[in-house]
Amino acid sequence: MKNNILITGFMGVGKSRTARALAAATGLFAVDTDDLIESLIHTTISDFFKSHGEPAFRRLEQDVANWLERSVDHTIVSTGGGFFMVPNLLKLGQVFFLDADFDAIYQRLRAQPGGRQIAKRPLFQNLDEAGKRYQDRLPLYRQNAHHIIQVKGRESNVVALEIQNILQSRGLLLKKP
Ligand code: S3P
Repeated sequence: MKNNILITGFMGVGKSRTARALAAATGLFAVDTDDLIESLIHTTISDFFKSHGEPAFRRLEQDVANWLERSVDHTIVSTGGGFFMVPNLLKLGQVFFLDADFDAIYQRLRAQPGGRQIAKRPLFQNLDEAGKRYQDRLPLYRQNAHHIIQVKGRESNVVALEIQNILQSRGLLLKKP
């Protein structure tokens, strides 16, 4: 198993912010699977969903997972909300699932000015469908994680500190690159 630190969870739960806070606290680099995919496709994820559809996006996520398994170690990885479905997830490193209820997630996304946080997420365009997707995924997120972190009402630097403490107490905190 590799020594990366993966952050999973539903859209808008704060995975990227937490990864960045953890990077700042530990000195490790952080990468984001959606950013890696956007660098490949030369367009936004939203436009890619429109032109190529979800299955093509999932294949790119699998490519990213394979690259992480082959070539990346000692790195913090924030993931897109569906990345947890790749079959090799648990081999990539310690997986932290960020857990918050759907309403808290929705309220946080909605509070961002201009509606951009919702507009850029193709699978959050219909609230009922997003809520159903959340319910369907919840047990799977929990199964596909080594650690479950409650994040409702907590700032990302506080969440990052909890992750850092867990890693430290188990002797898993990595040295700076
Ligand atoms: C998705 C989540 C998105 C992005 C894509 C699909 C999902 O990332 O990967 O729109 O299936 O949950 P965020 O979790 O950063 O919104």
